[in-house]
Amino acid sequence: GAPITADISALEEGQRIILEWRGQPIWIVRRSQAVLQALPTLDDMLRDPNSENPEQQPEYANNELRSIKPEVSVLVGLCTHLGCSPEMVAQIAPQPFDAEWKGGYFCPCHKSKFDMAGRVYQGVPAPTNLVVPPHHYVDDTTIVIG
Ligand code: FES
Repeated sequence: GAPITADISALEEGQRIILEWRGQPIWIVRRSQAVLQALPTLDDMLRDPNSENPEQQPEYANNELRSIKPEVSVLVGLCTHLGCSPEMVAQIAPQPFDAEWKGGYFCPCHKSKFDMAGRVYQGVPAPTNLVVPPHHYVDDTTIVIG
């Protein structure tokens, strides 16, 4: 499929844009400073906290936040277990199903959990972090995916 272009100029903190690329949902989320600060505190609970699996992100997103710009996360919105689309749970409040939950993505199909960088928790069916698709910025608020 051809690359797609996303205008993120109106994307506010905590919001998500959902686009489609190659038949897959693409999520673009603007994360708050609170979310970014919470991410490193989760490392011990994650299966691949340092994104060591090279299949799951391009090299330029192989960093602590799995993104080019710290606040803007770009992910393929499909669970790496069997491909359901996880729900976004963006708040940093404990959720009924997990006292340690600091926001992220929850797959309703078999209860896989990911953080706000798409990193998978331990002890869930999904084997790997969510995929970061190939993308780049053409200017400060325009992202090309593909
Ligand atoms: Fe997401 Fe199974 S498809 S947990």
